[in-house]
Amino acid sequence: MSPATATRNSKKRSSTRTTSRASAPAARMSPAASALMKKLVNRTATIGVVGLGYVGLPLIRAIRDGGFPVIGYDIDQRKIDDLEAGRAYIQHLGPRFFKDLSKDRKFRPTANPRLLEEADAILLCVPTPLGKHREPDLSFVLNSTRMVSEVLREGQLIVLESTTYPGTTRDEMLPILEHSPRGRQLEHGNDYFLAFSPEREDPGSIGRTAAVIPKLVGGLDPVATDLAMALYSRVVKTAHRVTSAEVAESAKLLENIFRAVNIALVNEMKTVLAEMNIDVWEVIAAASTKPFGFMPFYPGPGLGGHCIPLDPFYLSWKAREVGRTTRFIELAGEVNSAMPHYVIERVQHALNDDGKSLSGSKVLVMGIAYKKNIDDSRESPAAEIIELLRDRGAVVSYHDPHLPHFPSMRKHRIDLKSKPLNAGTLRSQDCVLIVTDHDAVDYDLVGSASKLVVDTRNAMERVPPKRVKARLVKA
Ligand SMILES: NC(=O)c1ccc[n+]([C@@H]2O[C@H](COP(=O)([O-])OP(=O)(O)OC[C@H]3O[C@@H](n4cnc5c(N)ncnc54)[C@H](O)[C@@H]3O)[C@@H](O)[C@H]2O)c1
Repeated sequence: MSPATATRNSKKRSSTRTTSRASAPAARMSPAASALMKKLVNRTATIGVVGLGYVGLPLIRAIRDGGFPVIGYDIDQRKIDDLEAGRAYIQHLGPRFFKDLSKDRKFRPTANPRLLEEADAILLCVPTPLGKHREPDLSFVLNSTRMVSEVLREGQLIVLESTTYPGTTRDEMLPILEHSPRGRQLEHGNDYFLAFSPEREDPGSIGRTAAVIPKLVGGLDPVATDLAMALYSRVVKTAHRVTSAEVAESAKLLENIFRAVNIALVNEMKTVLAEMNIDVWEVIAAASTKPFGFMPFYPGPGLGGHCIPLDPFYLSWKAREVGRTTRFIELAGEVNSAMPHYVIERVQHALNDDGKSLSGSKVLVMGIAYKKNIDDSRESPAAEIIELLRDRGAVVSYHDPHLPHFPSMRKHRIDLKSKPLNAGTLRSQDCVLIVTDHDAVDYDLVGSASKLVVDTRNAMERVPPKRVKARLVKA
């Protein structure tokens, strides 16, 4: 988009936003909006969920628990087959989740987009990765919006849930709908409605289900916000209304940038304190006793997952379009992406202290998922760490109770299978490197059977020191 278009769009937006702030929440509704509102209030509206991945599936559970029938659409036929057969494809959701969904008569999984014509609300939960040059890759959002434009009809609410830069819903999605053959017969705000409500999934955390995590809701106009609020307030405990889609889009980015920057801060602190022989984990625990003005963040081997390493750069890119720079984001990116190298340096020094070189040493990487207790390896720093170790001549294997095979990743192809964890395996290693601290691992065994443990997560803290025979190094 040219800067001139961006300025035009932002002028258009600010006038819309003023209106939306002035007139929330009891907006005047068209007959189509009133009819949809009625269906949402009495829970007879059919909800379509597009993208049946880490975000889409937990959301479906919340919507079904809220009493609405659901159509789940994905372009990946294997996911539809698995859902129909009750086969789990996201481990941390558990086999029961998939069994229950397969038996649920009010949930229809499909790879046929035409079925979405029946949906009164369509929620898009598709990926928002980065391109080769760290630019936002909106292709999944744009493709699924094109698909929606082919089933668009009077009385539909469309909500984007994917994380993205401010303006995506209004400046990228709305024009696709407006200029489609069906959209040309309809008017946004009168016949159909568009909103943004970011997902805040916390994979693997027990009890923090989609239904209990508060949800932000911002429409392109007050009617769209009212309709989206009517839906979400029936499926999540707290739906928080904001004055525009752009506020909701920006708030989601702020949440993730806040994490990226604070993790970078403790990662930097870790490297400095290590030189002074001060344990950063003890320092963080000590600072956390302050009951105000402090919130703990923890260091690690580098950022992972679909969100924190990627989303901040959506704002950096957008900021350049309006002539601004995002120095915090760039600096945090720099510090966090140096962490795999820092870990390798610590492993190298630790081996050196044992009179060994990294080249030729056997290193077992413990945990390749990007966070504990899940089977998601997207953007996991483990892949880069393994490649750096191999580049330096180490003989690398891994153990991860949640990932029996090393999955193929966006930037990495690593042909390894998880090694069973037993005393023999541990004894045969020159170094055991903990990258992800899954709870299912027997850390007592790791501490008693290994020679050297390099721990990037403070995982060994749970083993009483007298039971640890290995030399421990934090990284
Ligand atoms: N995973 C998380 O913890 C998390 C948390 C908060 C927000 N988010 C955001 O939510 C969005 C989705 O992430 P995710 O982790 O669920 O991704 P995912 O890869 O697990 O799932 C996305 C699904 O969308 C499907 N898909 C892709 N294009 C499609 C299309 N045109 N039509 C229909 N289906 C299509 C894919 O086949 C896949 O099943 C992203 O924007 C992400 O940043 C993710």
